[in-house]
Amino acid sequence: MYQNLSIRSLGPHEVSYNHHMHQKPFILSTPNSQNLNINDVSTQMLEEVKETYQRYGRVMLRGFKSDGPRCFQSLLERLDFDLDGEYLGGASPRSNVTTKVYTSTDAPGPFIISYHTEMCYLNHRPRQLAFYCQQPPPHNGETPIFDCHQIYLNLPLSLSKKLETKQLMYVRYFSSKKSWLNVYKTWQDTFLVENKQQLAEKLKATGLESEWLDDGILKVSCTVPALIQDPVTGKKTISLTLFNKWAFHSNLNRFKDRYFTPLRKAVDWYAMRQYDKPKVFFETLFGDGSQINKEETEQIQQAAWDAATVFKWQQDDILLLDNIRWGHGRLNVIKPRKVIAALGNMYDIREMTLQSHQVET
Ligand SMILES: [Fe+2]
Repeated sequence: MYQNLSIRSLGPHEVSYNHHMHQKPFILSTPNSQNLNINDVSTQMLEEVKETYQRYGRVMLRGFKSDGPRCFQSLLERLDFDLDGEYLGGASPRSNVTTKVYTSTDAPGPFIISYHTEMCYLNHRPRQLAFYCQQPPPHNGETPIFDCHQIYLNLPLSLSKKLETKQLMYVRYFSSKKSWLNVYKTWQDTFLVENKQQLAEKLKATGLESEWLDDGILKVSCTVPALIQDPVTGKKTISLTLFNKWAFHSNLNRFKDRYFTPLRKAVDWYAMRQYDKPKVFFETLFGDGSQINKEETEQIQQAAWDAATVFKWQQDDILLLDNIRWGHGRLNVIKPRKVIAALGNMYDIREMTLQSHQVET
């Protein structure tokens, strides 16, 4: 059977906020895709998916049938994704679904996961991401997609220069005990080790700075570029995740209409308590260790949300994202929501740093 693949943009009924990306092709489907299992698509169609992904860095396969996580993993392998099964050093609480597919996040539903590129706080991070929607949420739970070059253009010039020059330092403090609400992970779960010797080997291999503090807390830091050259387009892109109390607070405020007020206040109170601790579990600083202040935080947030399209998941959606060109997040959700994720084509940012200082804007 000839499978005619069509390409279109997201329609107004498919998004929650920001419609400006509708002109860009995004969705791939076929007229008869409801009868077509994603693993039965032809080689010719797979080539079209690869071409579109290479060109735009984002593809949504919508309207196909799928038989769950193994089917998703098998599709990615047919698309030549070199899947990573470890998520080594990753911050988000996740569970394995197959050997190389995870839950996208187990973070509490009321939390907003704002703009980030995956594992941007580590040297080793994926070039490719894929998500599969097993169960769309009954309410909310949309995924925003962020145009990382547009974020760069949206930033005040002085701030983008500062980010480029100073870079970013991510500081994390780990305990060996699990946290209440499963918000942050232990060092054992994060680095997939059982003892300190194994941990030391993993930290050395990943090029992270570390220090054991007197109270048995592990401090880990990593300094990485905030600007990366997109190898496909040569354009500058912003790559970061912003952890500080202002970022958390401003996201809650931005989407306050989506909350029952007492719940929003409780979430805000909980987050503020975490950030008031001297050893906050995760903090984003400039590379010289100085704070990203409230105004700068809000400028970055505004630049990101102005470059976002927020789409609603449908059953069996598969989303492929280039992790340099596109950031992502998750809005607050009333669960259940089953979106699973896979990471592919790991690379080392230290091998790209020099190029990023030579590119055109
Ligand atoms: Fe993520």
